[in-house]
Amino acid sequence: MELFPRTDFLRQDSVTRGPCLRINLREMGANMNMITIRRPDDWHVHLRDGDMLRSVVAHTARQFARAIVMPNLSPPVTDIRAGRAYRDRIVDALPEGMAFEPLITCYLTDGTDPNDLARGFEEGVFTAAKLYPANATTNSAHGVTDIANIEQALARMAGIGMPLCVHGEVTDAQIDVFDREKVFIERILAPLVERLPALKVIFEHITTEDAVRFVEEAGDTVAATITPQHLHINRNAMLAGGIRPHAYCLPVAKRERHRLALRGAATSGSPKFFLGTDSAPHTREAKENACGCAGIFNAPYALESYAAVFEEEGALDRFEGFTSEYGARFYGLPLNEETVRLEKRNCPVPETIDAAGAAIVPFHAGETLGWKFVG
Ligand code: DOR
Ligand code: ZN
Repeated sequence: MELFPRTDFLRQDSVTRGPCLRINLREMGANMNMITIRRPDDWHVHLRDGDMLRSVVAHTARQFARAIVMPNLSPPVTDIRAGRAYRDRIVDALPEGMAFEPLITCYLTDGTDPNDLARGFEEGVFTAAKLYPANATTNSAHGVTDIANIEQALARMAGIGMPLCVHGEVTDAQIDVFDREKVFIERILAPLVERLPALKVIFEHITTEDAVRFVEEAGDTVAATITPQHLHINRNAMLAGGIRPHAYCLPVAKRERHRLALRGAATSGSPKFFLGTDSAPHTREAKENACGCAGIFNAPYALESYAAVFEEEGALDRFEGFTSEYGARFYGLPLNEETVRLEKRNCPVPETIDAAGAAIVPFHAGETLGWKFVG
């Protein structure tokens, strides 16, 4: 990462790390006006299909070289044929001349055929498989009703090095929605990692200090993605002073101490934590509704949003690892060679963004962020 000095201010409070970084940060800390990093990848995104896909894909492709694309379409992407067809639709939806590589995931169901899954991975159609506990979130009705039903498929994945992306929430109606991630770790994830230590697991969009601790203490085969929203907001953003549906996503944002734990993990320099936006567009009508959809559309200003967090934490020197290196290494994919830049200047976020003939309210709507992606 190249850092370009700026002379108008020096933020001493960003100097919080060990002795050699202390020197670095004192010289560069927030004291810079440009960041140059390897082009990043988004290790978790919802690009949808049809008109919505055509409207949103460029927002992701503008900032990211590759993305792990979620398969929760209707119907979901559950086999090789559907995976190939979805990949082609994404590529077709890209604006002329825009380079972007969608990495397709296979939606696991109770009926997933381990041989078909393995063949999809070996033929390069699928980069990973996705575990949605049935009814945990948007379009997950076809998900897995009991992890025992996919044990053969998981064992096969462990054998061939195929990564498993996990939506880590139990769906038990008895469990409070704010406890569903923690209980998932206890009931499902910890036993799974114990049974299949060779399985590469990405614990996606983690939201709790329990998840941070679990990932830190697990072996090298376990990593996690962290979204911009879970680094910026706690549950008050959704519920204090009125219900704010645009701050609602799943897993839902938790208490402040969890947000702080996530910030610590993301900016720690640990290669176990990397970028995954979980950008999940829904129209304004679908969100501002008596039963509003879960999902935050953060793709248009994703890097700006993460950069704000790293700057606030005095950790811009660790930004590139999180955005552009750790994820690719974990997936066993090459690092991108190209670079992109962010400039230290105002980046106003519009109140709405047009998509598929409707309005979507993006994350940070109406705010001004302090870094701007300039390509
Ligand atoms: O908030 C979310 N939205 N969480 C998910 O797991 C799914 C996603 C969506 O597809 O809208
Ligand atoms: Zn998601």
